[in-house]
Amino acid sequence: MKTSENIGLKDFNTFHSKVKAQYFTRLGSMDDVVSTVSNFDKKIPLLVLGGGSNILFTKNFDGMVARMEMKGIEITDEDADNVYIKAMAGESWNDFVQFTLGSGLSGAETLIDIPGTVGASPIQNIGAYGHEVAEIIHNVCCYHIPTHTTLTISNRDCHFGYRNSLFKQSMKGRVIITSVQYKLNKHRIQEALYKDVEEWITKKGKDRNSIHDIATAVRAIRKDKLPDPEIMGNAGSFFKNPLINNQQFFALQKLFPDIPSYQAEGFQKKIPAAWLIDQCGWKGYRKGDTGVHARQPLVLVNFGNAQGSEIYDLAKQIRQSVIDSFGISLDFEVNIL
Ligand code: FAD
Ligand code: EPU
Repeated sequence: MKTSENIGLKDFNTFHSKVKAQYFTRLGSMDDVVSTVSNFDKKIPLLVLGGGSNILFTKNFDGMVARMEMKGIEITDEDADNVYIKAMAGESWNDFVQFTLGSGLSGAETLIDIPGTVGASPIQNIGAYGHEVAEIIHNVCCYHIPTHTTLTISNRDCHFGYRNSLFKQSMKGRVIITSVQYKLNKHRIQEALYKDVEEWITKKGKDRNSIHDIATAVRAIRKDKLPDPEIMGNAGSFFKNPLINNQQFFALQKLFPDIPSYQAEGFQKKIPAAWLIDQCGWKGYRKGDTGVHARQPLVLVNFGNAQGSEIYDLAKQIRQSVIDSFGISLDFEVNIL
């Protein structure tokens, strides 16, 4: 295990923030995980980094950045309806999705092209186009930093919710996820498709029951809406879609009859944050090299040389304007450091 000092992180985060890590190491094996945790001085912070696609660095990181690079994907078990696949945390999420599609397995097709690593997938319970990764996670293996032990956490114990899990709550900063075991379906479960996907499939005359056609549809929709971080720095949705109770929703609907909403768990309504930000006039906004994407206002962008702190300032301004107009306080989806 090699540790370097004063390492630039620009190529390790999709906002391309030009910050430095005091110490930097790579976790290529379980031995690296164990020795990093044993060696690192608990007085300095430890950050486990995947693809850096859900992080905004606002300043240099005074501590140890450990980049998860453990690789491997293998089928571990199978029964009449399911195939179990273990993927190491440093695998690219999208390579894992391609593996499932290549094996003719269903469950990950709508989650194609989400950037980042397998290890980060349970953390915010990644989701897109009607599905969340919680639906296919069997268990999560991790190294528990305080006790230096390995843990296997079952799906139920991960307490998954919308963009939420145990790993963002009580286990935050306490574990290094080393692998995830997924449970894929041998046959696609027939169900209604997400509206945009249904429309694309119908328009193109594709098969709504084919995992490959669904993945192709999602890929095309995403390409149309979301900026490519290689061209324009971003971390996907900057904010979560807020959940409000029915009473608050009906009061807002009187004032804003066009307000869109989706039914969510526990008699709550989910409001698209993109709509709230759009209504506040931010869509396409640019100041210096920071901005709000012109096709998807939930995505904040770095046009070139924006500092993370400038993007954070813009995010706070947007959040305040949504509070002023709608009385709704948006939560950040992106991890601010
Ligand atoms: P990082 O950004 O590196 O890390 C995120 C957090 O997880 C950090 O707190 C980090 O410390 C922690 N972490 C990472 N790996 C580990 C590990 N092995 N053990 C312990 N902690 C760890 N998300 C969605 O849900 N749906 C989308 O549709 C979506 N679209 C996106 C589109 C674009 C263009 C971009 C840039 C991002 C998008 N995202 C989306 C967000 C992002 O892709 C996901 O959150 C992804 O899971 C982050 O993975 P990562 O490896 O880059 O994590
Ligand atoms: N909208 C506007 N103006 C716009 C764009 C959108 O008002 O310019 C409104 C419309 O009402 C639209 C709604 O926002 O129907 C929803 O937009 P979209 O379908 O693009 O989805 P989203 O809610 O903005 C969420 C996820 C995305 C995920 C997509 C697809 C969150 C925070 N974001 O975005 O995830 O890919 O749905 O399922 O839940 C991410 O987490 O980083 C991410 C990109």
